[in-house]
Amino acid sequence: CGIVGYIGNKDAKEILLSGLDTLEYRGYDSAGIYITDENATGHLFKEKGRIASLREKVDQSVTAFSGIGHTRWATHGIPSVENAHPHQSTSNRFTVVHNGVIENFEEVRDAYLSDDTFYSDTDTEVIVKLISWFAESEGLDTIDAFKKAVVTLKGSYALALVDNTQPDTIFAAKNKSPLLLGTGEGFNVISSDAMAMIRETNQFIELMDGEVATLTAGTIKIEDLAGTVIEREPYTAEIDANDLGKGTYPYYMIKEIDEQPAVMRKLVQQYQNDEGQLEINEDIISEIKESDRVYIIACGTSYNAGWAGKQLIERIAGIHTEVHLSSEFAYNTPLLTENPFFIFLSQSGETADSRQVLVQVNQAGYPSLTLTNVSGSTLSREAKYTLLLHAGPEIAVASTKAYTAQIAVLAILSECIANSKGFESFIDVAHELSIIANAIETVIDDHEIFDHLSVTHLSSSKNAFYIGRGIDYYVVMEAALKLKEVSYVQAEGWASGELKHGTIALIEDNTPVISIITDEVTGPHTRGNAHEVVSRGAHSMIISMEGLDRKGDAYVLPKVHDLMTPLISVIPTQLIAYYTALHRGNDVDKPRNLAKSVTVE
Ligand code: G6P
Repeated sequence: CGIVGYIGNKDAKEILLSGLDTLEYRGYDSAGIYITDENATGHLFKEKGRIASLREKVDQSVTAFSGIGHTRWATHGIPSVENAHPHQSTSNRFTVVHNGVIENFEEVRDAYLSDDTFYSDTDTEVIVKLISWFAESEGLDTIDAFKKAVVTLKGSYALALVDNTQPDTIFAAKNKSPLLLGTGEGFNVISSDAMAMIRETNQFIELMDGEVATLTAGTIKIEDLAGTVIEREPYTAEIDANDLGKGTYPYYMIKEIDEQPAVMRKLVQQYQNDEGQLEINEDIISEIKESDRVYIIACGTSYNAGWAGKQLIERIAGIHTEVHLSSEFAYNTPLLTENPFFIFLSQSGETADSRQVLVQVNQAGYPSLTLTNVSGSTLSREAKYTLLLHAGPEIAVASTKAYTAQIAVLAILSECIANSKGFESFIDVAHELSIIANAIETVIDDHEIFDHLSVTHLSSSKNAFYIGRGIDYYVVMEAALKLKEVSYVQAEGWASGELKHGTIALIEDNTPVISIITDEVTGPHTRGNAHEVVSRGAHSMIISMEGLDRKGDAYVLPKVHDLMTPLISVIPTQLIAYYTALHRGNDVDKPRNLAKSVTVE
């Protein structure tokens, strides 16, 4: 979910709605705003579905000087108008938007609110009614009622609160979920990220866990829960509002696929020193060198990138590397080595599952590095070190350019470690990345081939398989995830040798099976596995690499370095996912049930 708030000299309606448009990547099941007009009258608008539907519902004749808004990714309660935020107390005096999950909402409800009736299934309605209870039953000022509620609640939250008896004020608080305060001439804002308010200001102040903020049009006051006032200077968010548009592209996803060659080139520039050598902060390199194992922690596409990264760190830098799903690692931690080093991969830098592991890693005092696309994001701030992906804003929910950027940065990092260890160099990563940039362009130029393949073999299929071995296995996991996410074709990314041990039972006449072959040693084995599925009726398509290709292959990838093949073999699979989704009439950029940044565990 994402939240915004505005108080100041302009009409709040459109600012909130366009902020929510930008935050839609955090969820788009339902949305709402609460605005206060010149007569201090509050107006609540909520709608199921996208911000576009909410916009139609908002009464354009109301001019508002303040308001709060929310776009939702359902956790407690189905997507519906009732469950959409903002939520209000019974008297409608208090209105709240919330990003996060309150773990003890049932206990709080039973302890304080057993006489109340609830109109929604959300934990948030409990928050607003609890604030109201403290204000009205205990006679507390709003700020004290808010603080007391916050102390009572357990879980994650970024909250904005409006009290209609104090319409010139917005209150905010946070724990775990991100929240920024933005400031400008004659107005102040709150927002889950800087991007959503970048059209208004680039001056932001971070709110920290356990702090409460009081905003008016001209002032921002931050205090801790004990009432100690905290002074914090704003920082400048370096986001170019122009990067947020789709340009001439029909969808962000295809724009972002197309940007990958530029991202590869940019990364080389960013990580090159004046002598043209790849260079990374010496402290990061020496801490990784001193560690006896690297643990890569990530979710979703970033997790899949981690597997390609493992290969690079082990082969180039010679350090044992494990890859773990954040949500598994956090509560089922494996036996660690004595000197672990943690690398968090996260496009957004906000994923709650990953953050949970980072909190534990910090508590244990282990060193950590976040690779993220968003500077100033939570995982970036809280890890010891950060390396940026420099991929530009990734807006499509399905991640593409962040995947390749993560692998490229891990390649750069691996080479820097190897150099520092004095290893004899066998790969020139900067040179290979420039070859890859050109190779990606070649594959994208051939997009019609993947469009055709999608429409003829995938868009009307109920399921599909990607298979590969070794380095290609890592890519087929991502290929299948991408296809599932945007096309809703049920897809498996399987180690091709493992198919025969069970999964092959799913092969029927014309089941599409796409093999990826970029490795000389495992390639012939994967071809053998492709024959096995053909013998059972499958429609086999082979994407191979130049030099390993055979007559009849569906596509031949330009040759790149053996260790870097995921950067090129993933491109057809991104295009296949895109075109299959397009032919099925799906909303490519905002697939059902998903959110780009999942800030709940
Ligand atoms: C969500 C998105 C995925 C993404 C994952 C991890 O589930 O839908 O596309 O890969 O989060 O996100 P992160 O920002 O941590 O890379």
